[in-house]
Amino acid sequence: MTETLLITNAAQVVTMKGHKDKPATKDAMSELDIIENGAVFMENGKIVAVGNDQEICSAYKADHHIDASGKVVTPGLIDPHTHLVHSGTRENEYAMRLKGKTYMEIMEAGGGIHATTRATQAATHEELYEQSKKRLDQFLLHGVTTVEAKSGYGLTLEHELKQLEVVQKLQQEHAVDLISTFMGAHAIPIAEKEKPELFVERVIQEMIPEVAKKKLASFNDVFCERGVFTPEQSRRILEAGKKHGLIPKIHADEIEPYGGAELAASIGAISADHLLKASEQGIKDLAETGVIGVLLPGTAFFLMAEFAEARKMIDAGVAVALSTDANPGSSPTISLPFIMNLGCLKMGMTPEEVLTATTINAAYAIGCADEAGSLEAGKKADITIFNVPNYLTLSYQYGMNHVDTVIKAGKLVVK
Ligand code: NIG
Ligand code: FE
Repeated sequence: MTETLLITNAAQVVTMKGHKDKPATKDAMSELDIIENGAVFMENGKIVAVGNDQEICSAYKADHHIDASGKVVTPGLIDPHTHLVHSGTRENEYAMRLKGKTYMEIMEAGGGIHATTRATQAATHEELYEQSKKRLDQFLLHGVTTVEAKSGYGLTLEHELKQLEVVQKLQQEHAVDLISTFMGAHAIPIAEKEKPELFVERVIQEMIPEVAKKKLASFNDVFCERGVFTPEQSRRILEAGKKHGLIPKIHADEIEPYGGAELAASIGAISADHLLKASEQGIKDLAETGVIGVLLPGTAFFLMAEFAEARKMIDAGVAVALSTDANPGSSPTISLPFIMNLGCLKMGMTPEEVLTATTINAAYAIGCADEAGSLEAGKKADITIFNVPNYLTLSYQYGMNHVDTVIKAGKLVVK
């Protein structure tokens, strides 16, 4: 049976259309394509037409109708970097950091990622599913319709698979679309601290082939940072993933300049993420090779660190996307709208650029731009309606949830 839905009378429809084949860079990051007094018609989960209210309403009749008077319609927001599936919280470490301990000191003392690994290993599938589902519900309430989710708190084959299977189950059962990334190389387990090579070999020989065989991930990510994985180890792990069809991503230059951006460019990664301390050369390399810079200002905010140089990156020609980095240690939030505020206020981005960075560029960063990230005929009808009179208000009023309605694949999921 045909299901049709019509959104009418929107103060603004921000379509993001026209970024075909490649993410937006430089001036194109400001091209939102806004229709004043706009409408969207969708059928069987797909967008059929977007345009002026009168044109669309005279051409199409629908079973269901949403009046978006005084509101802004955008593509469903996309979060391209999260550590969604994990157990527990780390507010104790937050209190320690407020007294002066650093993130890396806490991790080196056996806390940090190791603390969440212990909790995640101890959790059952069901417990992980329930905790992650609650977070995903919150993403949806904040207007996010696609979320990338990484493993990396298992650190053994059994527990990495458990995390990825939870992602797979959520993908089948939750309204939000999930894109899965294997991140076995998130930390060197404490027991292998003195023999990191053994763990690197285990990721390469044991984990990557099994994850690929079970088709549990599309991407392979590595925490390339001093004291975690060296650029040389990261390269081997990412090359091994490539042989099994996993596309490389890198947690790059988060704490210090470490050659992560350069590695991302030379290995053909789809994205380099964090980049707080990316070098001049690294930024140049990303721009030249078209690697997307996924910036996570929530992490800089929460770790009280310097923010990534988004302005410099965009001006240099890097396609920038934004994400929450949702995780219990360095960015305990699911609010992508708040990340948009930080993008403007702390990284020198414009309101237009942050919208591009959380829609079409975010879609490119996780390989789903052919079906999400813009409102265009043929794409999935993933749509967020915000109760604001214009898109500028989204990155102006902060710490508020302006979401009014969320439509996922043509179905009303938040009202
Ligand atoms: O992206 N940097 C490494 N991984 C996460 C943090 C994970 C954690 O602290 O639990 C990040 O910041
Ligand atoms: Fe991360």
